Amino acid sequence: TTQRNIAVERTFLAIKPDGVQRSLVGEIIRRFEAKGFTLVGMKFMKVSRELAEQHYGVHRERPFFQGLVEFITSGPVVAMVWEGDGVIASARKMIGATNPLTAEPGTIRGDYGVNIGRNIIHGSDAPETAQQEVSLWFKEEELASWEPSLTPWIK
Ligand code: TYD
Repeated sequence: TTQRNIAVERTFLAIKPDGVQRSLVGEIIRRFEAKGFTLVGMKFMKVSRELAEQHYGVHRERPFFQGLVEFITSGPVVAMVWEGDGVIASARKMIGATNPLTAEPGTIRGDYGVNIGRNIIHGSDAPETAQQEVSLWFKEEELASWEPSLTPWIK
């Protein structure tokens, strides 16, 4: 059996309107698939002001809040739930620092971003926020856990 020294977790990721506009949806999903994480929920959607304000509620008093809400509601996003060992912290590493100018090359923001207000993707920052965000964005019946099948699909 596989050694697990870290818990199987779920995290919430969202490709922001700039990621969709820049045709990075496939590339971003490819990275998480190739890493070995499991997609358990996904929807392409316009974000309501109410959902955006709830999602970014901790930033309500910050000067960038209104602009952030305007941006997130400006066009469709790809909301996703990914599952895997240590996926919360691992996805944050793959996403890179908040400011794309300081994000390392090899990270999503480091490779594709320039502007902190247009940083392509959101990822939950801790187990507590991951749980909150998964249940804010998805109903339980929209999530599907699955195991790799032993059936040969191509033959
Ligand atoms: P934050 O939760 O600090 O970053 P992260 O997305 O890396 O978890 O901030 C949420 C978003 O708010 C961030 O992705 C972009 C935006 N933002 C700004 O536009 N300006 C800022 O100065 C900060 C800190 C964030």
